[in-house]
Amino acid sequence: MRKLIAGNWKMNGSHAQAVALLTSLSQKIADENLGEKTDICVCPPFPYLSLTAEKLETLKAAQSIALGAQDCSAWGQQGAFTGDVSAAMLSDIGCRYVILGHSERRGYYNESSLGVAEKIRLAHEAGLIAILCVGETQAERDACVQDSTVVAQLRESIPPCASSENLVIAYEPVWAIGTGKTAKPADVEAMHALIRRFLQEKLDKCAGSRILYGGSVKAENARELFAIANVDGALVGGASLKEDQFLDIIRAAL
Ligand code: PGA
Repeated sequence: MRKLIAGNWKMNGSHAQAVALLTSLSQKIADENLGEKTDICVCPPFPYLSLTAEKLETLKAAQSIALGAQDCSAWGQQGAFTGDVSAAMLSDIGCRYVILGHSERRGYYNESSLGVAEKIRLAHEAGLIAILCVGETQAERDACVQDSTVVAQLRESIPPCASSENLVIAYEPVWAIGTGKTAKPADVEAMHALIRRFLQEKLDKCAGSRILYGGSVKAENARELFAIANVDGALVGGASLKEDQFLDIIRAAL
């Protein structure tokens, strides 16, 4: 399966840094033809999305780097929802992907899986591809309930409109995010196999969805992760802000 490498910039950077990183990334991606065999996406913070979209249009690798957002409204496409940004707006400015249900949003904003399902429905209505994040906390892994936790998140977060074309799953063990700890290859393999089985058995339309791994992915561990069955790419946080790291992760996916 063609891999997807998605960079989640989170709440980092500035206008100048976004332009500098994107200009340099797109130049190297074009020079090495990295977008030919891999799908690449960057997800900057909301204020830099339009500017990034415009910048990408003027750059050589415009077709190779897709834009994604880090969230969207659960309330609709337009209306009196102060502070919200709708999926339709993201689509309108050129986004192709939106990350939904990230553990930081589930944790800091009490987002429930049912709320995430509504966001995914709205994202699909707007023509976006949703990257749904699932994963267990350290306490859940210690209690050996990681499988039931992830299956419950999948069951509740995926709306009926989802298909292999418009849904990507990102397995991100919460304890591995931003900590430098990566899950053991055997644990990644087991969880990705479980997710694939769930999709095949319960959600046939999503049986071919890509399953990304996320959580302290870096240049040093990317190759090993990509060799694991059912690992169809990565959702990269911290390392996506470092040009050399992000490029090496993309190269490891070829
Ligand atoms: P990290 O973040 O790569 O910095 O661990 C991954 C994520 O939160 O998507």
